[in-house]
Amino acid sequence: MNIDKEKVKKAFRDYVNEFDVEDEMIHLKKLHTINVASICEDIGKSLSLSDEEIDLCFLVGMLHDIARFRQHTIYKTFYDYKSFDHAKMGCEILFDEGLINRFVDEEDQDKDDIHLLRLAIRWHSAYRLPKNLNEKEKLFCNIIRDADKVDIFRVAIEEPVNNVYSVSRKEELDSEITPEVLEAFYEHHAIKRELRKTMADVKVGFVALSFELVFPRSKEIAKEQGFLVRIIEDDYTNENTIRQVEGIKNELNNYLNH
Ligand SMILES: [Fe+2]
Repeated sequence: MNIDKEKVKKAFRDYVNEFDVEDEMIHLKKLHTINVASICEDIGKSLSLSDEEIDLCFLVGMLHDIARFRQHTIYKTFYDYKSFDHAKMGCEILFDEGLINRFVDEEDQDKDDIHLLRLAIRWHSAYRLPKNLNEKEKLFCNIIRDADKVDIFRVAIEEPVNNVYSVSRKEELDSEITPEVLEAFYEHHAIKRELRKTMADVKVGFVALSFELVFPRSKEIAKEQGFLVRIIEDDYTNENTIRQVEGIKNELNNYLNH
């Protein structure tokens, strides 16, 4: 499919400008989108995909969170369970409401590529991918899922979590890690939202996402960024937490270096 990257960037800017661009949360998602698109391309290149496939990676990145702007504008939240499933809504906005036509001319739209784009957006934030995907479908789904996680590590550092979660700094530093969360961390997999109860849990939740990275390049970018260990480091006042965080840091460093 012929993707005009400049057209995509302009269409994205124009779309975001329909919302309150002065709003910090809108700005945050705009920046996240642009970063994710570039990480998607980076991963695509590392896999020696064709130029056309790399452009599709870029497009998936640019469109994966398109529903976030409507979500924040209507509900003032990025919690799907308090509003709508932003991945599903993204597909509706693009393919049912027809927003995709602003990004790629209708006559240029290739049926197979649109199918991949839709799947990758639909499943980008799911805990697990559906089992019935073929190799190519899985590939594009995993690229956006990896890129999204890698940029979430940046967001976690650059946008202090207590802003997003409205918890006091004192409470944050005194928080404990819930045993089930620690267990999931040492099992090396993502931590389900319902398990996370404290601010320390939220941070463990962020770093545990690194265990889900599929492609070597994603892990490499995460390592180059250097945000992962910084997410979990803090001036905790809780003795238990201090000890547990040391263990987590060691485990993370081991994982990143192997
Ligand atoms: Fe998302």
